[in-house]
Amino acid sequence: MIKILFVCTGNICRSPLAEGILHHKLRKNNFDAHIDSCGFESFHVGDPPDSRAQEVARKRGVDISSHRARLFSTDDFDRFDYIFAMDSSHFSNIMRLTRNDADRQKVDYMLNILYPGQNLDVQDPWYHGMKAFETVYVQLDEACDRIVDKIIAEFKPK
Ligand code: 4NP
Repeated sequence: MIKILFVCTGNICRSPLAEGILHHKLRKNNFDAHIDSCGFESFHVGDPPDSRAQEVARKRGVDISSHRARLFSTDDFDRFDYIFAMDSSHFSNIMRLTRNDADRQKVDYMLNILYPGQNLDVQDPWYHGMKAFETVYVQLDEACDRIVDKIIAEFKPK
């Protein structure tokens, strides 16, 4: 089973949205996978996703309300096949904790799925309004569509 982790700052906006969107899309395709998300700042550990993140997702039929924020841990390199960072700060934080090449090869920027090698950030919507959450949602939705295509291509029976 494929295992994918999304990482952001507080684990209450961007990465739980990515987790919920990908989970929703894979379920629609009858695909079993382990998808999770986490963050690097402890302010919101144990909290459900931000109400604005829940709202943009709920409008599209994606329920992220049961997620609880947690911190990234080096064990995550053993538990996941792919680790996607939302922005350059998370990417650097994750890379600093890698122990070997196998760990490093699992890590990439989320938006490199759509724009390979450009290392673009999914901007932090936390200090902004619903419009910022809508923009983040659209970016993540598009990136998750591409991830689903890749997963299905990789795991399709030959
Ligand atoms: P996220 O957004 O990293 O997308 O979950 C943030 C949430 C909270 C904070 C920063 C970013 N914060 O500083 O509390």
